[in-house]
Amino acid sequence: MAEVLRSCALLRAWRDKQKSVVLVPTMGNLHQGHLSLCQQAKKYSGNLVVSIFVNPTQFERSDQYRSYPRTLDADLALLSTVLDETDVVFVPDEKEMYPHSKEIESQKIEINVGGIGQVLEGAFRAGHFSGVATIILKLFHVVSPHRALFGKKDYQQLRVIERLCAELLIPVTIVGAETVRAESGLALSSRNQFLSEQESSIAPLFYATLKKLANVMQQDGDKASTIAESIKSLNAKNISVDYLELWDQQLMRRFDDGDSLAGTNGFVLLGACRMEKVRLLDAYEFNLH
Ligand code: PAF
Repeated sequence: MAEVLRSCALLRAWRDKQKSVVLVPTMGNLHQGHLSLCQQAKKYSGNLVVSIFVNPTQFERSDQYRSYPRTLDADLALLSTVLDETDVVFVPDEKEMYPHSKEIESQKIEINVGGIGQVLEGAFRAGHFSGVATIILKLFHVVSPHRALFGKKDYQQLRVIERLCAELLIPVTIVGAETVRAESGLALSSRNQFLSEQESSIAPLFYATLKKLANVMQQDGDKASTIAESIKSLNAKNISVDYLELWDQQLMRRFDDGDSLAGTNGFVLLGACRMEKVRLLDAYEFNLH
């Protein structure tokens, strides 16, 4: 089984002995989606680092951070089915990753990711992507990976991290991995465990709607359409939509109903919705031809 390292110093010492390393950053509470990321990562390098760290700075409210499920024993058991002794699980505590976090707020150093962090998820969760970018930059410094893998369910996160690397000249290749789905189409997520039976039965409608919407636009050819209608019909089924938007895949431009799609290659429908206690995210990439 992979070694569990808890300090940056130990991780760096291990890292110095490896040729190439791939990183899969997580916040724990792992499921098959994470395992599939690890399996893909193992194809790139014999030495995988899976980090497990619930990052306080990406939560909008401290109660959300405190109640985030911490399931280290189960996570390690799950990882032991994929990792071997050439790999490492990095489990730092808060002091290790934020050595000065108890200093006054105005002394805080964090990454500002600009406009891409203000839209979609960023508009609903103030400061979220700044927290994500900050922890990822720290992990990149400690782990020095050649590659890092991120799931496409958190599509905006993936694009933010690609932008971070491009803009700050960070020599890490970012790989976006396809979303793993239940048979119903529901994207696997740590949050699904909190869905009631009744919610689990209607939640797959969200992905089905993204897919259907993409099909309509593929058939209509050159105009964004029926997004507003789809939001209405999801809301009517108690899937309360925070946003459902059509963007180009680099998240440079949003398309509203009626906008021409001509001249753009590669679209993505991005959505977030709320069931009673659970907020679900999903993304659907498509091309017109
Ligand atoms: O996707 C996640 O689990 C987190 O946002 C990440 C990338 C591990 C950063 O804390």
